[in-house]
Amino acid sequence: MNFNPHDNETIKDFGDQWLKYTDNEGYYGSLELLSDILSPFLTPDEIRGCRVAEIGSGSGRIVNMLLEAGANHIIAVEPSDGFEVLCHNIPQPEKVTCLKIKGDQLPAYGNLDYIFSIGALHHVLDPAPVVEAAFKALRPGGHFFVWVYGKEGNGLYLALIRPLRIITKRLPHFMLAFLAEMIYWPLVLYIKFCYRLPLPLREYTLSVLEKMSPEKRRRIIYDQLNPEYAKYYTRFEAEKLLSDGKFENIRIHHRHGYSWTVIGERP
Ligand SMILES: C[S@@+](CC[C@H](N)C(=O)[O-])C[C@H]1O[C@@H](n2cnc3c(N)ncnc32)[C@H](O)[C@@H]1O
Repeated sequence: MNFNPHDNETIKDFGDQWLKYTDNEGYYGSLELLSDILSPFLTPDEIRGCRVAEIGSGSGRIVNMLLEAGANHIIAVEPSDGFEVLCHNIPQPEKVTCLKIKGDQLPAYGNLDYIFSIGALHHVLDPAPVVEAAFKALRPGGHFFVWVYGKEGNGLYLALIRPLRIITKRLPHFMLAFLAEMIYWPLVLYIKFCYRLPLPLREYTLSVLEKMSPEKRRRIIYDQLNPEYAKYYTRFEAEKLLSDGKFENIRIHHRHGYSWTVIGERP
């Protein structure tokens, strides 16, 4: 079990965040975005009828996407106080088991077809025990699908965000929300410039951010500034996450040139 103080602080930060930002409306919570996240390894159709889990469910947008894709049953793991938002946001509670635990405490079901961890492992200081728990919860032949922030493709962004985060991760909600509002307007301009110029993060900006509502764009900015711990993975580190965990047939994809999607199979 992981008692790292960084992790506990990060989990508290997310609890506060989800209690403030509760809904999953629009493209942010859509099946269209799930298709984008899963591509090129899976399609939502492959999840139909499956028994799956999501580690780090937050306010439940991925859980609801998986429900919409036709998953038969979902184990939703969320350790923060956002757990109550997650439970409240689920339209078919009979199909979802919500667990207020950390990922490394996921029970060793041994019968899950897929486990997803979308945007959670990069907030865990030592993700190895979470990967191990996922391995034990899958059936042989089941797959672990992970999405993490990438280091490659984010050079300029990291040069700006890293020093900023030293301060912002300590700010109270109202100051962070104000700052997100301040950053929002230059971001709108940046999106417009991306249509015409080959700017950094152009592919992500036009494929994902542009499709988000103004409210969700503000939330994404807030989400970047808020958590105590966030790691940006190199390709090697992202692949190693699963290979160290005894997964096989590991495949990796540089999603929109700024993040890593990794999938591995339990032999
Ligand atoms: C950026 S959010 C992603 C939420 C959701 N997957 C989504 O895409 O909307 C990361 C989530 O991981 C959770 N988390 C942090 N540490 C965790 C851990 N050790 N085990 C499981 N979840 C964790 C946080 O509480 C937070 O809700």
